[in-house]
Amino acid sequence: MSVLSLVHQISPPPRIMAFPCVGVDISDTSLKYVKFERNHPTDEGLILTHWGDVEIPAGIVERGNVHDVAKLAGVLKKMKDLCGARYVNISLPEERAYLFETTIATNTPTKDIRNLLEFRLEENVPLSPRDAYFDYDIVGEDTKMRMTRVAVTVYAKDTIHNYYEACQQAGLVAAAFEIEAQAIARASISQALDDTSMIVDFGKTRMGVGIVHRGMLMYASTLETSGSQMSQDMRSVLGDIDESEITIIKNTKGLSKTKDNEAVAALLMKTAEAIADELGIRIHYWHTRGIEPEARAIKKIILCGGSANLYGLPEYLSDVLGIPTERAQVWGNAFSLEEYVPPITQKYSYGYATAIGLALRNFM
Ligand SMILES: Nc1ncnc2c1ncn2[C@@H]1O[C@H](COP(=O)(O)OP(=O)(O)OP(=O)(O)O)[C@@H](O)[C@H]1O
Ligand SMILES: [Mg+2]
Repeated sequence: MSVLSLVHQISPPPRIMAFPCVGVDISDTSLKYVKFERNHPTDEGLILTHWGDVEIPAGIVERGNVHDVAKLAGVLKKMKDLCGARYVNISLPEERAYLFETTIATNTPTKDIRNLLEFRLEENVPLSPRDAYFDYDIVGEDTKMRMTRVAVTVYAKDTIHNYYEACQQAGLVAAAFEIEAQAIARASISQALDDTSMIVDFGKTRMGVGIVHRGMLMYASTLETSGSQMSQDMRSVLGDIDESEITIIKNTKGLSKTKDNEAVAALLMKTAEAIADELGIRIHYWHTRGIEPEARAIKKIILCGGSANLYGLPEYLSDVLGIPTERAQVWGNAFSLEEYVPPITQKYSYGYATAIGLALRNFM
């Protein structure tokens, strides 16, 4: 499991991993938080003790870049007051991440791997090693060639420092930073699964796309397609109606071509087609990279983010892309829904996948 504990390169790891941390998902327009506790010390299941969202006013975070650290600290402080948090696991935006794969000789001593990878940064990402934090995962081994495949995730130091600084100013201790799609994978992919899934986080301001292979995030990118753009498009047909009404239409009629929804469905179908095209390009790219093509085949597309509620979207994508597509079971690794009913409704829960995955870090 890829663990991007990049904060530990800034300061030594706090001795807090045994404490539950609050999972904090920072998007451009909202901060969502989730905290679990053990139901009982001896119990396997968890219960949700804190959750919620805090609005982030426009201009503070844009496309994952923090423009105003002090104001982001203000938002984090609000969250801290709401849930009494001290230790947090923070999401990092896919938009600012660079991921690449490389191979190293299998007999490379562990202590030398980082140095070796540092030399590879420059040829793979537009950052100098001086300005970058990176982490890596061992993906697999080619025993014949005696080569080990490694997946590397890189961020500009500035990107992480801004989030780190905002936490500090809010009086919070950042225990770990993790790329969004990896957190979503922890929440939504069964621990027993060893194959490859595509994760699609369809939110309000953008769509995050990740490919998770054997539990490790190997590919990440961002599409412009957004829930707010869909709402705007719908207003051109429906007039200036309230966002809550738009949400209901998205979720109950969406792509369905019934008589009373023809115009909206035609409009939303254009968005769905654009999504399918973009995902198709990425699937093709992934499937034709040559290494272990059978083991890499994407078996499932998992949708999350509030806009995953769009009526008919999983069925449409399954049909067009030929890969089973379903909405995420975001609580699957936290508890059994038969034993514990969370206070967040299913529709609302899709937007919490990242925060849930971050909060689960300390329990898995
Ligand atoms: N039942 C629902 N609950 C919440 N949001 C919903 C629901 N149905 C549809 N949506 C849409 O989902 C979007 C919000 O999704 P989400 O909470 O994942 O976004 P976000 O994380 O704030 O934004 P970002 O795109 O920056 O990650 C809105 O456009 C909203 O209209
Ligand atoms: Mg989001």
